[in-house]
Amino acid sequence: MSEPNRLPADVDLEKASAARCYDYYLGGSHNFEVDRELAHKVEAKVPHMKQLAQDNRAFLRRAVRYCLDRGIRQFLDIGSGIPTVGNVHEIVQEVAPDARVLYVDNEPVAVAHSRTILEGNEQAGVIQADLQDIDGILGSEEAGRLLDPEEPIAVMMIALLHFVPDSAQPREVIREYHERMAPGSFLGLSHVTPDDHPEYTRSLVELYAESSNPGTVRSHAEVEKLLGDFELVEPGLVYVPEWRPDTEEDRWQDPASSLVYGAVGYKV
Ligand SMILES: C[S@@+](CC[C@H](N)C(=O)[O-])C[C@H]1O[C@@H](n2cnc3c(N)ncnc32)[C@H](O)[C@@H]1O
Repeated sequence: MSEPNRLPADVDLEKASAARCYDYYLGGSHNFEVDRELAHKVEAKVPHMKQLAQDNRAFLRRAVRYCLDRGIRQFLDIGSGIPTVGNVHEIVQEVAPDARVLYVDNEPVAVAHSRTILEGNEQAGVIQADLQDIDGILGSEEAGRLLDPEEPIAVMMIALLHFVPDSAQPREVIREYHERMAPGSFLGLSHVTPDDHPEYTRSLVELYAESSNPGTVRSHAEVEKLLGDFELVEPGLVYVPEWRPDTEEDRWQDPASSLVYGAVGYKV
């Protein structure tokens, strides 16, 4: 992505973005010098950052599979990021080729790259929008094409809400999504927490303050409150390696060092 004429017009090259730093941690190539600079500073303070990103992706995979097992056939992945191995539409369409996925991100590089890889895929689409623009997302042409509001849906907000400050009222935003979701729907969520390793998350918050996505880390009680309208499926809100691990290797010796809580909530 070094040729400026191939970049989306609204991309900010002055500031690192969470989407592009995350792409770097996952070994992707859709990041710029400014992102790598921040990512290197992060790795100096949180040496296991790449592992952390991978554990979050593994949680995403397990949460999507869980929803598929519960019969969900439409997915709204908000804050979907830059496509990498094991995207939601790949996990979903492997199990249910007729299932549909709408990706949403507010970062132009993430959206442009998603658009490229989804070309020709009739069952998936992407739009550039902010989480808070619920009417814009659910009223979009792509949502009209891919999502049926009468049917249960899985809304994924994976590693997203720690980029949403309290002033943006994430609790109310989630409540609004909950209201619009049919009974039998799910919300998958993961979120960075300062609970057990504040020394790491302090550095993360300090370093990301200069990026396009300043962070807000939240305690177990605070994340639980965000999920307040949903019934949490077993095992509740736990560190991501502890959420229905496929194998014992998925579990860390110290799950708390993953720094990320994950949960799947059910709308009764
Ligand atoms: C750390 S990445 C997570 C990507 C993916 N969900 C995953 O967990 O693998 C966070 C993503 O959220 C996006 N994001 C941050 N704030 C957002 C907002 N208010 N609305 C939509 N997307 C947002 C960022 O651009 C970024 O792509």
